[in-house]
Amino acid sequence: MPKHTFQLNGETVTVDVEDDVRILWVLRDVLGVTGPKYGCGINVCKACTSHINGKAFNPCSVPVSAIGEDDEITTIEGLADTVDGDGLHPMQEAWLEHDVAQCGYCQPGQIMAAVALVNKVREEGRAITEGDLDAIRNVCRCGTYTHIREAIRTGAVQM
Ligand code: FES
Ligand code: FES
Repeated sequence: MPKHTFQLNGETVTVDVEDDVRILWVLRDVLGVTGPKYGCGINVCKACTSHINGKAFNPCSVPVSAIGEDDEITTIEGLADTVDGDGLHPMQEAWLEHDVAQCGYCQPGQIMAAVALVNKVREEGRAITEGDLDAIRNVCRCGTYTHIREAIRTGAVQM
């Protein structure tokens, strides 16, 4: 089988899988990185949201052949290591402060989407708007949306 090399949470990894295997299954089933969750597999629910080169993406919809050895994937497992210090990422701290999680299934994706949003609006030199929060499409079956919005605003201040 073909080999594929990429960067994952700060380490170089190589996997031996067919070109058309999507990255979510490479992460979860081959590499044992199960923070990104499987919900729909068709880029709708956003439960698998992670980062590629600092931007949000949905690994359920990207074949492993689409990434190169310099591409850096970050999952919730590696998020804290993207900032200084030994603790959690500030967005994870904000999540705890606002007691967001209920069943928890969607929460890794929600946090990764939140961090990507904050980084994006920073690059654009502006603050988060209500429209930005409305545009987050990550589904939460437990309905934690109000707390998510509050936590993103807190996390943005602390990032
Ligand atoms: S599992 Fe990736 S978007 Fe639903
Ligand atoms: S916390 Fe249960 S699906 Fe979001």
